[in-house]
Amino acid sequence: MKVMVVGGGGREHAIIKGLKKSPKIDVIYALPGNGGIAADAECVDIGAKDLDGIRDFAVREGIDYAVVAPDDPLAMGAVDILQAEGIRCFGPDKKAAVIEASKVFSKDLMKKYGIPTAAYEVFEEMQPALDYLDAASVPAVVKADGLALGKGVIIAETREDAKAAVRSMMEEKKFGESGSRVVIEEFLTGPEVSVLSFTDGHTVVPMISSQDHKRALDGDKGLNTGGMGTVAPNPYYTEEVAERCMKEIFLPTIKAMQEEGRPFKGCLYFGLMITDDGPKVIEYNCRFGDPEAQVVLPLLESDLLTVMEAVTDEKLAETEVKFSDSSACCVVVASGGYPQEYKKGCEITMGELTGKTEVFVAGAKLEDGKLLTSGGRVLGVTSVAPTLKEAIDTAYENAAKIQFENAYYRKDIGARALQAGSR
Ligand code: AMP
Ligand code: GLY
Repeated sequence: MKVMVVGGGGREHAIIKGLKKSPKIDVIYALPGNGGIAADAECVDIGAKDLDGIRDFAVREGIDYAVVAPDDPLAMGAVDILQAEGIRCFGPDKKAAVIEASKVFSKDLMKKYGIPTAAYEVFEEMQPALDYLDAASVPAVVKADGLALGKGVIIAETREDAKAAVRSMMEEKKFGESGSRVVIEEFLTGPEVSVLSFTDGHTVVPMISSQDHKRALDGDKGLNTGGMGTVAPNPYYTEEVAERCMKEIFLPTIKAMQEEGRPFKGCLYFGLMITDDGPKVIEYNCRFGDPEAQVVLPLLESDLLTVMEAVTDEKLAETEVKFSDSSACCVVVASGGYPQEYKKGCEITMGELTGKTEVFVAGAKLEDGKLLTSGGRVLGVTSVAPTLKEAIDTAYENAAKIQFENAYYRKDIGARALQAGSR
């Protein structure tokens, strides 16, 4: 089979390495891929948002199966366009991708179907939002409606900060059209759990749970980033919590999307907070998480392509989806200064990898046979081991062998999970 993966980050590298194990695949193309992905797939210089380019390439090459991984092309309708050409796809169509692309849609969906989430109000005009904040409790959470590269959420400690956030979104248009509507919601507390799931619109199969580390610095300090590391499984996702999530969140969400005429097929990501009142949805994503995919997919024992095809063919109920009972840790190695200013073009070298370790490249390009940094998050080092402690130790042992100018990584990925009792 000829398979094409749209995207070019660490998540796409993890998907490609997973697919590569499938005996059914002859060739994998990555659009656009990156300098590290080039070792595992044929990179084609077509951007993930160039929908015409993606369609023309797929038709010309006779692609049998396409995986659309990032949120932007999904929200723009990449799957609809490919399916119109008869190409089988993994990923939601545009109608279903709105579950991530519009926070107003997802909050209203949860309210309508009684799915637990933070209380909220939607504002289409600035003044009513500012007036509402005069009486709102703080911290207050202000969210831009649309996609904003994971940056459209501001947790404001004071009412003044919350108002400034509203102004930056609605007046200064900091996130463009994404901020033309805002959601102001109740601040929840509790440990966060990411649960990615496979769903074919009828059946939902949660993958192994994981925990992201979004802040730039140790101890969850510093700015929010795309994710500085992950561990799986997440110790807060106990069997009891999993049962409640299935009954109160996962199944009702799949059913709600069906009833709305927007059946969701692909990977639905549940961003959850385990509050004193039980699990609540913080956000939905219409795709694999990054860097969650980098710990979840290495633990998948079933053939990834077979599972993805079962999603496409709506045969998930009859398909085995098996995960290893090992643990995984991914340490993201970033360019010093990320998520703000950082240098690019630094040469990357890696020592011999030890243990069950893989490197997923996120931001690097190949030039004259050398791998050079080209992004903030440069790569993720994932190790799998029987216990989380060993997975963490091995990931760090290997992260220390990755060298480039100003390389930076957090030193405490997984520390909380260990404290919370992971084995
Ligand atoms: P999101 O982009 O929706 O994932 O939000 C980014 C981060 O903001 C989440 O991972 C949470 O840590 C935090 N967050 C979002 N909504 C809330 C909320 N209602 N209460 C507390 N924290 C939140
Ligand atoms: N790691 C969070 C996300 O992919 O949105």
